[in-house]
Amino acid sequence: MPTATRFDLKQSDIPTHWYNILPDYPEPLPPPLHPGTKKPAGLSDMTAIFPENLVLQEMSGEAQIEIPEPVREVYSLWRPTPLLRAVRLERALQTPAHIYYKYEGVSPAGSHKPNTAVPQAYYNKLAGTKRLATETGAGQWGASLAMACKIFGMECVVYMVKVSYHQKPYRKMMMQTWGATVHPSPSDHTAFGRKVLKETPDTPGSLGIAISEAIEDTVHTPNTKYALGSVLNHVCMHQTVIGLEAIKQMELAGEFPDVVIGCVGGGSNFAGIGFPFAELKMKHGKKLRILAVEPDACASLTKGELRYDFGDTGQTTPLMMMHTLGADFIPPKIHAGGLRYHGMAPTVSHLLKLGVIEAKAYGQTKVFEAAMQFAQTEGIIPAPEPAHAIRAAIDEAIQAREEGKKKVILFNLCGHGMLDLTSYEAFLGGTLADV
Ligand SMILES: Cc1ncc(COP(=O)(O)O)c(C=O)c1O
Repeated sequence: MPTATRFDLKQSDIPTHWYNILPDYPEPLPPPLHPGTKKPAGLSDMTAIFPENLVLQEMSGEAQIEIPEPVREVYSLWRPTPLLRAVRLERALQTPAHIYYKYEGVSPAGSHKPNTAVPQAYYNKLAGTKRLATETGAGQWGASLAMACKIFGMECVVYMVKVSYHQKPYRKMMMQTWGATVHPSPSDHTAFGRKVLKETPDTPGSLGIAISEAIEDTVHTPNTKYALGSVLNHVCMHQTVIGLEAIKQMELAGEFPDVVIGCVGGGSNFAGIGFPFAELKMKHGKKLRILAVEPDACASLTKGELRYDFGDTGQTTPLMMMHTLGADFIPPKIHAGGLRYHGMAPTVSHLLKLGVIEAKAYGQTKVFEAAMQFAQTEGIIPAPEPAHAIRAAIDEAIQAREEGKKKVILFNLCGHGMLDLTSYEAFLGGTLADV
């Protein structure tokens, strides 16, 4: 019998509920604060830009939140996603470790982002929103929201970080194919964008700037709400379908991970794979490590401070207790555009503070070496963001070899890199450097 390498679930196994980590923390999560009063932000502070149904979800203390049937129906276009064992990579590394990966690149947009784009569009539609405004880094989130808006019949406008707009033109075309309007950020469509352009005409842009532009657009355009692709509690919660499926699939494989790994930008895919395992660790005493991997060039968890900070550069969002490099930090132009965010989800930051998770950072050349090794053994060309998780998974497997220990490793391959090939071209041409 060949070694089993693929562990599939049926459509009926798509989770019926998302897992909300908030009630399970041993210490409560510090609340977001109103930027003016510095008092905990209330419902009315948030409903200027988000629909009430999503704000209630953001603050919910329920551990299980039912996934509406129309959302599960759209999920079934690509969920449940496969869980695979990377046996060829294991052989190449000559490691006794077993390496598993959950593959979210099978979604229509090519990443995990539709897991939250679809419910966000659905709840906005229920609330009567006609148009959604958002930011995007590498374009994965913007493409996902463009698709979800089209499915539920809403307009979508996307402020795409300028460096990615030029590095990743095909994602812009995907958004346009799904009917969205896309502006390179900073843009001259908003007062904040114009201010940044005036002060720093050559800026590569950043997620923090693009968020400010999307919020300004929301506040000034009728029937428009704002949607965020990461960071917030409800966004991280929507992603938990990943980990909930993975737990069942690891049972099919007859193993339990010693270490679960995810890359972190704003924290959502890491939350997706990690939070359901964190529940097993915090509430059921399961022994495992949960590892967040970030770029050296934008290392909020390993180099940032844990403090209240703004989610955007224009300082318009509520203050969140999070690991941050400062709301005005402009990350270097690394190819993992989705990881160029100054802050980290409060829910992820809190887990690091409580010692439930660990964090590690890598420079992009070592990350691309790992991405190449994965592509050449397993076939899938990973997006630069999850290549950070692959780097850490490979290093864990090498350590297992050196120690002569069996180890079960699970990582989230949260997107394919078919539209990131210019990054591979730079790596192959020797022009990709650590910054
Ligand atoms: C493929 C991919 N992975 C990871 C991320 C980082 O975001 P998050 O930390 O919310 O998963 C992005 C963001 O755009 C992305 O496109």
